[in-house]
Order: sequence, then structure tokens, then C-alpha cells
Amino acid sequence: MTSPILVAQDLHKHFGEVKAVQGVSFQIAAGEIYSLLGPNGAGKTTTISMLTGLLTPTRGDAIIDGYSVVEDANRVKEVIGVVPQEIALYPSITARENLSFWGKMYGLRGKTLHERVAAALELAGLTERADDKVSTFSGGMKRRLNIAVGLLHRPKIIFMDEPTVGIDPQSRRRILDTVKQLNAQGMTVLYTTHYMEEAEELSHRIGIIDHGKLIAQGTLTELTRRVGELDTVQLYVDSGEHAIEACAASLRKLPGVDKAFGENGHLIVQTPEANAVLPPVIAHLTQAGVAIKSLRIQEPDLEAVFLHLTGRALRD
Ligand SMILES: Nc1ncnc2c1ncn2[C@@H]1O[C@H](COP(=O)(O)OP(=O)(O)OP(=O)(O)O)[C@@H](O)[C@H]1O
Ligand SMILES: [Mg+2]
Repeated sequence: MTSPILVAQDLHKHFGEVKAVQGVSFQIAAGEIYSLLGPNGAGKTTTISMLTGLLTPTRGDAIIDGYSVVEDANRVKEVIGVVPQEIALYPSITARENLSFWGKMYGLRGKTLHERVAAALELAGLTERADDKVSTFSGGMKRRLNIAVGLLHRPKIIFMDEPTVGIDPQSRRRILDTVKQLNAQGMTVLYTTHYMEEAEELSHRIGIIDHGKLIAQGTLTELTRRVGELDTVQLYVDSGEHAIEACAASLRKLPGVDKAFGENGHLIVQTPEANAVLPPVIAHLTQAGVAIKSLRIQEPDLEAVFLHLTGRALRD
């Protein structure tokens, strides 16, 4: 990995008998989006709280941008931004006042403060509502403002703890796009979620956390490969069952095709790598004079990986 900006080493957190985090280690490269994916109570918030200096680890440490979260918590705070799971806003004052308050807490003053607040409002899509009280905001607007607060001091790495829970689809879309936009500008992101679709869409790498332990990590492809499942290509072709079977038999001879068979008027091809096998499959069918009316690729997903690793479903 090129220059990790975060190295978590054997993090543990015990609350009396409760072992919330039990030996979590991972690294995040500068410029990466890393997601911690896990069900309720897995230890996501506890891990983030240790990384951001809110909780002292029972054991272990993390180095962020060269500083230890245990030894140098104040230096770490200068380079990180935090978007907590529980919304941290004052409802009785306006969005702009909330941002100004937090900006001052970060040591911003005068023109810089003014500009950063305006930029944060713009990023959150709240410029028009800047001078309304937060108590009048929807859940999604509060979430967006919560994120804006975490970005005011331009951190190198931002920690976002389940920022899309319980909000409308438009706000969720906006937040996911914001994460991508920030990352495209060079920001490193640690994102936690229990929605596998979000982890799949956003992440360069994913750590799957369960019962306080990282049970697997890697890119989406690396993780799904562990399940050993195949991509399924479903082709709707304009031919009778008999012709479909004949096509399937000839496709089975192509390299990279594990299985090919007919099913309900569809031609099903299973392969470790749909992208690689699709061009020869299409060429073969075209040559045989078979018209393809539609095509769908289904890759093995994180749900399958979680089920494989834990025997349980990830969904609530
Ligand atoms: N202050 C605390 N005192 C005692 N137990 C705690 C405390 N904080 C967390 N826990 C426990 O530690 C475990 C991990 O909790 P944590 O909040 O880190 O999970 P999470 O992955 O963030 O879950 P969620 O998706 O529900 O936010 C849970 O069993 C929780 O009940
Ligand atoms: Mg949590």
C-alpha cells in the first residue's frame, strides 16, 4: 500500500464485561474510501470513537498522519473531521450559526470563517435555508449539516459514522455523491454503514466487522471472490427452447465459461469474470445468428460474503 494515512493496530475496547472491540487492525491509504461494514452492535462507533480520541483504547493504538491517537490526541484532532452517528447540532439556532459556532471551536475566525461557512452550506445544499432554525429541518437536512460541520476545518481524513440512516432517498443520494466528490478532491474517508449497497458503491476497500472483530477486508472483488461464487450473465435471446439448449452447449466450450444452460427462455452463463467472458459469448451468439434482446449481469455481493462468513444475514 502506498503511504497509509491511518494505521489501526490491535484496537480493543472493553466496557466491563462487554468486549465491544476485540483486536481490530487495518490501514487506510491516503486518498482511499474505506468502509467498515457491519450489523448493529458490531463495534463500528466504538472503533471510530477510539480513532477520534473520544474513547481511550483498552489496548492497541492507531497512528493517523504520523500521530498516535493515544499519545497525541490533540495533533490527531487537527487532521481529522468527525461526522458522528448521533447528530451534534443546536436545534434552536440557524444552520449558519451552528456552522459558525463549530468553526470557532476549530479556531477559525473572520473572513476565513465566513468563507468556510458559506462553502459548507453550499456543499450541504443548504444555502437557501442557511438562516432557518435547525429545528425546522428534515432528518436529511440535519444529516447534511452534520457532515458540513465535520468538514469546516478542511481535514485530511473524515470519519463518517452511518451518515445516511433514517433519511429520504434524495438526501441519501446527495450524501453519497458528496462523499465521492470530497474523495475526488483528495480527501481520505472512513465510512461506516450497515448498508452493503453503500459499501459496494463507495469503497475502494471494505472491512467487514462483526462482534468487535474484523472478519474480512479487501476490495469488493477480493471479498466476493472469497465466497467463490460466480458471476451470472442472463441473456434473453429470441429463440426457442431447443435453440437455447444448443447455444448453451456450444457456449460451454468457451474458455472462462463454467456453466451455460437454458432457463425460462433465458440463456444463463456462469463465469468467474463476466467482463472477460462477455465479448466472446456475444461474438459466438452473433455468429450463430442468435439475436440478444437483453442482458443482465449479476455479481456475487457483500450479503453473500457476510452470510458465508457468519452464517447470518447482514440485513436487519
Ligand atoms: N458506553 C458503553 N457501555 C457499554 N457498552 C457499550 C458502550 N458503547 C457501546 N457498547 C456496546 O458495545 C458494542 C458495540 O457497540 P457500537 O456502538 O460500537 O456498535 P455499532 O457497530 O456502532 O452499532 P450500530 O450500527 O447500532 O451503531 C455493543 O454491544 C454495545 O452495546
Ligand atoms: Mg454505531
